[in-house]
Amino acid sequence: MNDRTNDPIREAGLHRPDRRKLLVTGLGLAATSLFTGTPANAQVEQVRQSAGALGSTDLQKSAQNARRKLGSLEVSALGFGCMNVAGMYNRRIDRQEAIRLIRAAFDRGVTLFDTAEVYGPFLGEEMVGEALAPVRERVVIATKFGFDVDLKTGEVRPGHNSRPEHIKRATEGSLRRLKTDYIDLHYQHRVDPSVPIEDVAGAVQDLIREGKVRHFGLSGAGGATIRRAHEVQRVTAVQNEYSIWTRDPEIEVLSTCEELGIGFVPWSPLGMGYLTGTVTPMMRLGSEDLRASMARFTPQARQANWRVVELLQRVGARKQATAGQIALAWLLARKPWIVPIPGTTSRKHMEQNMDALQVKLSPADIKEIEEGFARIRVQGARLNAELLAGIDIGAKLGTSSKGGRGMSPMP
Ligand SMILES: NC(=O)c1ccc[n+]([C@@H]2O[C@H](COP(=O)([O-])OP(=O)(O)OC[C@H]3O[C@@H](n4cnc5c(N)ncnc54)[C@H](OP(=O)(O)O)[C@@H]3O)[C@@H](O)[C@H]2O)c1
Repeated sequence: MNDRTNDPIREAGLHRPDRRKLLVTGLGLAATSLFTGTPANAQVEQVRQSAGALGSTDLQKSAQNARRKLGSLEVSALGFGCMNVAGMYNRRIDRQEAIRLIRAAFDRGVTLFDTAEVYGPFLGEEMVGEALAPVRERVVIATKFGFDVDLKTGEVRPGHNSRPEHIKRATEGSLRRLKTDYIDLHYQHRVDPSVPIEDVAGAVQDLIREGKVRHFGLSGAGGATIRRAHEVQRVTAVQNEYSIWTRDPEIEVLSTCEELGIGFVPWSPLGMGYLTGTVTPMMRLGSEDLRASMARFTPQARQANWRVVELLQRVGARKQATAGQIALAWLLARKPWIVPIPGTTSRKHMEQNMDALQVKLSPADIKEIEEGFARIRVQGARLNAELLAGIDIGAKLGTSSKGGRGMSPMP
């Protein structure tokens, strides 16, 4: 795969914005705007009027139509993480508010929506299904199986469950809640140490043959596990935690993805909100907030790590961008097959995140970020002990399926 910069104009196919291409982009925009209620003609007219000026509105619209490829699957360059609408950090939002927010994200150009059986549990998939039913054919819905969720009661038991018969039953539940007869991208949420990854890949392959699933993904998987799974069933995307302050995928997972033509989806691309500068050292995190259990989110760690936020703010100040936008632009600049999925419960934040597609980092900006970050020692583990124990970090760290050790034993 070829590397390239995160130039939204290039990604949208507009090397130099010109009037003809702008009109095409504008027509695409008008066609997708199903939920805003703005008449399509009015939007085309709006684009026409601005075409002569080639102003910031035009750049915004080109950027919001930017597309990337995860394997063979085309998606918007930024996806939308739907975990928080089901309440993981600050607050769970009301179902109607969540549906409006997800539809607003679609109107802003998002076509990749990320959820999981365990978010809620079940509630996240229900919200996504209801929100996207009117535009089902025009979006990519990604969901996940693999935590040990009781399929009847929704009780989440400790550990994981990727037994093939359980995957198939769990998938039926996801399809029902998502109001669809196919899942575009079905991830194993966590490697299950008691089930060989080949059996998991085989179960998903059966679902693909039945037309219930279109693409296979892995989450929280290391290089050796990815390779073993890919031998059985093509892996389209790997979703692991990755952001400026969490670099584990750089050890082996990104190179494995690049070699095998697999797309990469960074979860928590905004560092669970910290990289936006809004989770200050003084802010109180309620006990129901998952971050409160993580060493990186103690007040002391937040204070010690604040230099990361300041670094992003410094670069952002020059580019009239927020720290969070720089964090997203940095990820987009890593590889053209990386598609971050920032999550939010706020329409304003969703729009701000989408505007990150307009932020272009120069090689000098990236050098400044890398050199600045190299001088900072991030304090605190990125997840709590229970969550970390469930991650197949990778062969090089001795916690993978390579040679039969670690998370996923050889059959
Ligand atoms: N595969 C996995 O195991 C896994 C694990 C974690 C997450 N995920 C996926 O990844 C998605 C994103 O991850 P994440 O939610 O953990 O972390 P994130 O996207 O890095 O950060 C989310 C947090 O940032 C805040 N935020 C978002 N945009 C903001 C902005 N522009 N300004 C200020 N604050 C902003 C949100 O609060 P507000 O609501 O107030 O905006 C929320 O608290 C999830 O929704 C989920 O789909 C997957």
